[in-house]
Parts: sequence; C-alpha cells; structure tokens
Amino acid sequence: MSESAKLSFKGQEFEFPVITGTENESAIDIAKLRASSGLITLDPGYKNTGATTSAITFLDGEEGILRYRGYRIEDLAEKSTFLEVSYLLIYGELPTQEQYENFSKEITHHTLVHEDIKKILEGFPSNAHPMGVLSSLICSLTAFYPDSLNPVRNKEEVDMSIVRLIAKMPTFAAWAYKNEMGHPVNYPDNALDYCSNFLKMMFALPAEKYDVDPVVSAALDKLLILHADHEQNCSTSTVRIVGSSQASIYASISAGINALWGPLHGGANQSVIEMLEAIKADGGDAKKYLDKAKDKNDPFRLMGFGHRVYKNFDPRAKIIKKAADDVLEKLGVNDPVLDIAKELEQAALNDQYFIDRQLYPNVDFYSGIIYRALGIPTDMFTVMFALGRLPGWIAQWKEMRENGEPIGRPRQVYTGENERDYVSMNKR
Ligand code: CMC
Repeated sequence: MSESAKLSFKGQEFEFPVITGTENESAIDIAKLRASSGLITLDPGYKNTGATTSAITFLDGEEGILRYRGYRIEDLAEKSTFLEVSYLLIYGELPTQEQYENFSKEITHHTLVHEDIKKILEGFPSNAHPMGVLSSLICSLTAFYPDSLNPVRNKEEVDMSIVRLIAKMPTFAAWAYKNEMGHPVNYPDNALDYCSNFLKMMFALPAEKYDVDPVVSAALDKLLILHADHEQNCSTSTVRIVGSSQASIYASISAGINALWGPLHGGANQSVIEMLEAIKADGGDAKKYLDKAKDKNDPFRLMGFGHRVYKNFDPRAKIIKKAADDVLEKLGVNDPVLDIAKELEQAALNDQYFIDRQLYPNVDFYSGIIYRALGIPTDMFTVMFALGRLPGWIAQWKEMRENGEPIGRPRQVYTGENERDYVSMNKR
C-alpha cells in the first residue's frame, strides 16, 4: 500500500498521499489540502516546499551530493565540456558524437547578434552594472524574435530559441563589459570554442594581438560546468514561475538573470571578493570580520558561507578550491586575497557559531579568486555565473512547459486591516 500522511484539524482527519522520488526523497502531496480542509500551508522562503517534481538535478545537502541527470558533478567537471553538459541538462542524455557536433555547430553559427542591439547597448551609461545590461539585452531578443511570444510553439521553434540563447549570451556578456570599459565591441570568432570565443570578445583590443590562453579557457569551462544547474534555487524558481504564465523563454531567462544578481544568490561571488579586499585593506584581521558576522546587531554576513540546502559541504566548493590552487599555480599568480580566504575559512570552520549553524564555504567562496586570476573584473563575476547557469534555466523552463505545469500562484495569510469605511481627506 502506498504511504500517506494524516492531518487532524478541528476534530477532523485528512489524509494525503506521500510521493517518493527516485532517490527516496518523500513529500506530502497537498494538492487537495485547501479543497478538503480549507487550510493552506505557510512556508516563508519555501524552506520546506517542493514546487515541482523534476528529473534534472539531484542534490543531497546533508551528504554533499550533486548530480546532473544522474552524472556526478565531480566526473562532469573533470571529463566533460560545458556544451556537452548543456546538452545533457536540456535534452536529458549525453549526446552522441553526431548530436554533439550538430549542437555545437548550431550554437557557433548563431553567435552573432542583430546590429541594432548595439544601439540598445550604446544607450546604457558606462557605469551600468553588467548584470542589468545582460538581462536587458536578453529580454530584447523578444523584440528581434517576436515569434517567441507565441505561447504555443513547436519543438523546432523552441530548439531554435535555445540555440540562440546559448549562442548569444557570451556575445551579450562580453559586450556588457566592453560598454563598461568604453571599448569597441568585438564580434564573435566562430573558429574558436565556446569559452575561447567569449574570452576573445572580452579581452581583445583592436590595437593589440590577443591569443587565448588555453589554461584560462579550460578553467572557465570547468567553472561554467560547476554552475550549470542547481535545482529549484531562487533564480531557477523565478525562471519557472515567469515561464508558467507562458511568457517568452527570453523574458523568463531575463527574469532569472535579475534574480541571480542579488548578493544572497549569484551576486555573492562579487561580494566575497569585495569582502576579502576590505579585510585586506583593513589590516587583514580575519577574526575581526568573523566576530562581525556573529554579532546579531551587525548586518554583516560572511559572504560565500552558508547555503540553504548544503548543511555539510558544498561539493562544488571542494572542486573549485582545488581548481583555484591549480589555476593560480599554472598562471603564476600570487594573490594575497587567497591567503585571507584560506585563513577566514579555517577560522570559520573551527568556530562554534558556524559549526552550530552548519555554515560551510559555498561555491562562491573560491570562484571569485579564480575569476580574478583569469583577469575577469569583479562586477563581471555574477555575469559568469549567469553564463554557466543558462543551460540549467533552459532545462528547467523546458521541463516545466513539457510537464504542462499550471501557472505559479502562491497563496498568503492576510494580516492587514479588516473592512473599514472610506474617510474623506478633510476628515482624516
Ligand atoms: N554569515 C553569518 N551568519 C550566517 C551566514 C553567514 N554567511 N549565513 C547564515 N547565517 C546564520 C543566520 O544569521 C542564522 O543565524 P540564527 O539562526 O542565529 O538566526 C542562521 O545562520 C541560518 O541562516 P538563514 O539566513 O536562516 O539561512 P538561509 O537558508 O535562509 O540562507 C544563505 C542561506 C545562503 C542566503 C545564507 O547562508 C547567506 O546569506 N550566506 C551569505 C551569502 C552567500 O554566500 N550566498 C551564496 C549562496 S551559494 C550560491 C548560490 O547558489 O546562489
């Protein structure tokens, strides 16, 4: 007999089915809760709420496990490429050689963007944050490809939007940076692989020869794989909820970029480096900042520490820490901020406050250090995260649409005024 959970309320008993996933995670299916009992659930921040069933990413926060479509993140980071992982996430299986070649060819073929997009870019002031520029440019694709606004689209049309997104995102990201620098934009070089093309668009200057460093390109590819999906986090849930209203895929992804931007989510990688630099400028006293993070009267948090789901360790952080050491050694970079990071990490890991609250370094604690070593400027870090997360957002959007999920529309418990009569202004 399948399992169920019982709720008793005001002398009545209600029974709900329990759904079990392929990794034995259990959830009470409360779809009929309100209709049967009149109750709703209240769960601020959705800490206990499963918004969907999903076959894309499995993570076990207690055991520190992360798998995309069943494949271990450690294996994918070591053996795969970002484009292969993108295909896996979006289409569910690792591609055959032929599928991979066709997918990469299509993406390479669509890297160029409409010339008029340059005019939109030129309208931004040079101090515009590149995340805002990126989300605007992605949303502008709805204007250049208005067919994407049609909620009923066939598989070929959806596949074309997917290709366009993966192909054009590096162009937009690099152009957002060029706008900030006041440099002319570079057009894509389709002779290069995905990451090398992006690096060239970012860093090449008309007056100088630029050769992509394969160490830098390989490190970036690995970072993108590590960020490629992370099940129902803030930005992914945003993409799914925007998409659930049948808004265009471009509008949904643009919304995800905005959700990622905040310092509690993807923006943490920028905040980590800013924090480490501030500690360095302040004499390098890691303990002082640890105390600030523990002080409940001080809003300061140790950026790059803690995670909603990981309560033991973040497997991505482990891989990234090692990659940071490798990359810094290969590039011959000696970054004093890395020493502060290591000192802070050790101090926090041995501190009772952090132990009690199960706060461990997350993926963003070390990613900023690698990005710095690769020459990526600080305010582009979250853009790098977005570049990596793109296939995950796409896969989740596609799954949500293919499952025919209903529009996302939570309820609330109202705590405002009861009905009252309007009082005209001269009597208030
Ligand atoms: N520094 C100091 N205290 C912390 C921190 C931190 N970084 N993170 C959590 N806490 C404390 C918090 O004050 C609370 O303490 P108490 O129980 O005494 O009130 C307790 O730990 C639980 O925190 P919470 O805010 O209820 O936990 P949450 O699950 O809502 O938040 C988080 C998770 C990631 C937003 C939070 O840990 C945080 O703000 N971390 C810093 C920002 C960061 O690094 N974000 C990147 C997350 S990984 C990348 C991504 O996937 O986006």
